[in-house]
Amino acid sequence: MHEVAAAPAWVSLAYLVSGVLFILALRGLSSPASSRRGNRFGMAGMLIAVVTTLVTHEIASLPEILIAIAIGGVIGFVTAKKIAMTDMPQLVAAFHSLVGLAAVLVAIAAYMNPEAFHVLDATGTDILQVSRIEMGLGVAIGAITFSGSVIAFLKLNGNMGGKPIMLPGRHIINLGTLAAIVVLVGLFHLNTPELFIAIVVLSFIIGFLLIIPIGGADMPVVVSMLNSYSGWAAAAMGFTLHNTAMIITGALVGSSGAILSYIMCRAMNRSFISVIAGGFGADDAGSGGGEAKEQRPWKRGSAEDAAFLMGQAEQVVIVPGYGMAVSQAQHVLREMGDLLKAEGVKVKYAIHPVAGRMPGHMNVLLAEANVPYDEVFELEDINSEFSQTDVAFVIGANDVTNPAAKTDKTSPIYGMPILDVANAKTVLFVKRSMGGVGYAGVDNDVFYMDNTMMLLGDAKKMVEEIVKSMAH
Ligand code: TAP
Repeated sequence: MHEVAAAPAWVSLAYLVSGVLFILALRGLSSPASSRRGNRFGMAGMLIAVVTTLVTHEIASLPEILIAIAIGGVIGFVTAKKIAMTDMPQLVAAFHSLVGLAAVLVAIAAYMNPEAFHVLDATGTDILQVSRIEMGLGVAIGAITFSGSVIAFLKLNGNMGGKPIMLPGRHIINLGTLAAIVVLVGLFHLNTPELFIAIVVLSFIIGFLLIIPIGGADMPVVVSMLNSYSGWAAAAMGFTLHNTAMIITGALVGSSGAILSYIMCRAMNRSFISVIAGGFGADDAGSGGGEAKEQRPWKRGSAEDAAFLMGQAEQVVIVPGYGMAVSQAQHVLREMGDLLKAEGVKVKYAIHPVAGRMPGHMNVLLAEANVPYDEVFELEDINSEFSQTDVAFVIGANDVTNPAAKTDKTSPIYGMPILDVANAKTVLFVKRSMGGVGYAGVDNDVFYMDNTMMLLGDAKKMVEEIVKSMAH
């Protein structure tokens, strides 16, 4: 039997230290105030894990490793430098797909060359039972993560429509495919290459099938779910490669991603099972929700009107969304808030759990603009206040304020909690045009309310003009 030589004690200790640093990183990332420290812990943990692995494992020659690091490093550096904040979710989806693909490639390599991976049994000719289960699971989770993330990338990047694609009989097809994968992993002890290939192919297919029916309000949950899958894929790789740090990191990413998905499902009023089962709760006919533009009357306002109305208010609640991120209006928005506060107006920011395109998107942008944390409120803490608010200033948000989520069962956002801006005395709604829709692609009744004034134009420019008017 090809035993794996026990790692020296210092290696185990180094991996343990990196594991503790990763846990501290997650803890730090739970609040904007400590997130930088959390990131530093994570970077230190990763440095220790990578150096320890390179020093102790004879995976490849040093020049080969350095060349690989240089190629990957340059691609990562250039991509991260160039990427716009608004494109972050698709970048994350693309990275998840790479983790999935890596897990598949590691499992294939171990299957083709079990001796090099120390996974042969006592006979020296067959792969260990336990390693087969690890490899079967690793390749299945990895392939699902890969194809699912590729679809999520295409949807988030706009190459595929954001709307759910509902195949007829999809639940039967999905359940059948999943059951076949489980059976094949169970049969993998028979060790025929056909079984291995079948697991890989079916897993690629199920990843694709699970994500295509998901759209609209469920996309954020999918991104965090794929994040969780990528963690489990990495943990499975860790077992095949006998690398403790990878098992710890994978399990941390897998479980924290699962918890985040669960929290987001609760915030979005979705059932966890329905999302992971692939649009299980979605209505087959439900992609509408007032998609056709209606010719209803609406009121247009100017920056001067907005400055006047807010200057007269006792309380203004600002509702930022994706458009604020697109136009990078957060800095001038804080300036506007400061001017209002100087006039004695109470200013608060209301954050919807899926505003923008990634979890915490708005919090990050507002923190970047130094908006005080105590002015920023989560949906459940602020929603009841709109009825006592003079002005709700909606800037680049749309779906997260759409009452169709409460009233229209056919809407793709039906069931999602919304910020009740319509209850404010006046709603100022900043967007570029009446034609533009939000991520879910549906019209919003708030535009046509008597107490709404549309401020059409780029968010940053509009707020700059409002600030100018206030200064006069
Ligand atoms: P959206 O509903 O996407 O609305 C964005 C609004 O911003 C649109 O009304 C758009 O209208 C406007 N806009 C775009 N660029 C602008 C600019 N430069 N200046 C002014 N306005 C601009 O945004 P939301 O309310 O934040 O909702 C988020 C949506 O994304 C939800 O459906 C959510 O499910 C989905 N989603 C969220 C996430 C996460 S994790 N947060 C991930 C994936 C998907 P115009 O085009 O007319 O300007």
